[in-house]
Amino acid sequence: MIETSNLEEIQNLYGLTDEDLSNYFGISKLKVNKIMKGETEAPEWFHYAIKGLENELIDQKEQSISEKGNFRFIDLFAGIGGIRIAFEKAGGNCVFTSEWDKYPAKVYEDNFGEKPAGDITKIKETDIPAHDILVAGFPCQPFSIAGVSKKNSMGRAHGFECNTQGTLFFDVARIIKHHRPKMFLLENVKNLRSHDKGNTYRVIKDTLMNELGYTITDKVIDGGLLVPQHRERIYIVGTLDSAEKFEFPEIKQKEMTLNDILDKKVDSKYTLSDRLWASLQRHAAKHKAKGNGFGFGLNKRTGRARTLSARYYKDGSEILIEQRGKNPRRLTPRECARLMGFRDNFKITVSDTRAYKCFGNSVVVPVVEKIAKKMVKSTIIKEIKDQQVKVNLQ
Ligand SMILES: C[S@@+](CC[C@H](N)C(=O)[O-])C[C@H]1O[C@@H](n2cnc3c(N)ncnc32)[C@H](O)[C@@H]1O
Repeated sequence: MIETSNLEEIQNLYGLTDEDLSNYFGISKLKVNKIMKGETEAPEWFHYAIKGLENELIDQKEQSISEKGNFRFIDLFAGIGGIRIAFEKAGGNCVFTSEWDKYPAKVYEDNFGEKPAGDITKIKETDIPAHDILVAGFPCQPFSIAGVSKKNSMGRAHGFECNTQGTLFFDVARIIKHHRPKMFLLENVKNLRSHDKGNTYRVIKDTLMNELGYTITDKVIDGGLLVPQHRERIYIVGTLDSAEKFEFPEIKQKEMTLNDILDKKVDSKYTLSDRLWASLQRHAAKHKAKGNGFGFGLNKRTGRARTLSARYYKDGSEILIEQRGKNPRRLTPRECARLMGFRDNFKITVSDTRAYKCFGNSVVVPVVEKIAKKMVKSTIIKEIKDQQVKVNLQ
């Protein structure tokens, strides 16, 4: 039987859909699927076709990596590429990206012309190109440290491999360990620090500093400094060169209100139905009576929004806009994009529901732009940039 596990790996590494494979091999999606599951014997030529496909993809990747940009970076847990925008603007060349959810991956491809690789847990670090900066907005998960000493005493994995295995942070750590990027930027929710009574953050810091040998600086920054939305996130910058400690940029408050990001005319489909509006008000009143804080966030155009979440598509309750003589409305996906600091040339190519989720998971781009700009001024990155400029001039 022909080995198809290699095809699964190729599909994940290059972010190919079953449809892409069906088009390439000229057979139906169903047949591709059956071959991959081992339910149908693959034809003789299949083995050669897989090799041909792999060579073609390697060539394409090499061409797209080329020598553009002043430094190389990789974009993990990429979502729709908010962090990528910032690092490209700072002069970087993105040489690898991974995002396993097909909707953000589509938006990513439609904007950057590249398909992200899929599940990072299945990608070998050796399949990732060398890079100077690693960026990742990884999901926050608890670490199980139970049984560490037992495992150690049995001569099994130790250090971060033991503490973090099975979490997505482990994948970030193993890639850092292999490639030793000069710097990295990790982004997460503010409560990463208090998550699991502080254990999660303790393990992360210990791994980055003591196991991987980086100097780290962290800061909680409110995106509300640059967009009319309260959005606190923790940013962790690591530097290989411990002689130079990274200092976060001082960001000056930009005076903005929702008026700066709202459209003047909006389709009536964004106005809440009588039923939904009544139910939100009922729910809020019930919670208020119990002394709880739940309520919808009703805003005037001159106000500022609460944090946009990935669940905004459900009822839009966290950010509602008042309308004269009508029920309030929710934001449109384009307004959400602006609320996250995306420019209007950013293409939104998925349904409203999917788009709300994508933007709710993303970053406030102008904040990351400030951090990226400061990071590339670090001596350790400037040296690479200067060398690259010389090469480009030759
Ligand atoms: C908080 S979001 C990051 C968003 C991103 N910073 C942006 O600007 O859009 C985390 C992303 O990690 C992705 N993700 C989670 N597990 C993954 C995995 N095993 N492999 C690849 N991507 C994964 C999720 O689909 C999600 O889009």
